[in-house]
Amino acid sequence: MSELSTSLVEALLVAAKEAKQQSYSPYSHFAVGAALLCEDGTIFTGCNIENASYGLTNCAERVAIQSAVAAGQRSFQAIAIVGDSIGPCMPCGACRQVLAEFKVPMVHCETKSGVRSAYSLDELLPHSFGPDDL
Ligand code: THU
Repeated sequence: MSELSTSLVEALLVAAKEAKQQSYSPYSHFAVGAALLCEDGTIFTGCNIENASYGLTNCAERVAIQSAVAAGQRSFQAIAIVGDSIGPCMPCGACRQVLAEFKVPMVHCETKSGVRSAYSLDELLPHSFGPDDL
């Protein structure tokens, strides 16, 4: 896994912050944006989309991944996630499993105050069950 350049991380975080503006979150009022960098350099974005039937909510990460996969992308370099929490907006358990399905190797976060952090998928979901186990 090659490390992303600072400018690429910057571009990904900017795209995630733009996507966050589209968040549909009338129930939690917690807006999240994500930007997924494909192997070929294309960026797909997503925001969280909530539902009056709360359990049907889609997280920003999964919206980005589903858009990319629906457009034919299958190979990914990294995803950026931004939310309104004080700390980094970490992917939920369901999103970690979906990140594992598509082997998204790195997660980049930025807090509201601009503090950046990065995590490998292995750190976030150790001993995972995935497509290689079937
Ligand atoms: N959410 C995301 O979109 N991504 C995350 O990483 C954490 C949580 C959304 C789901 C819900 O719309 C809101 O944040 C509060 O949980």
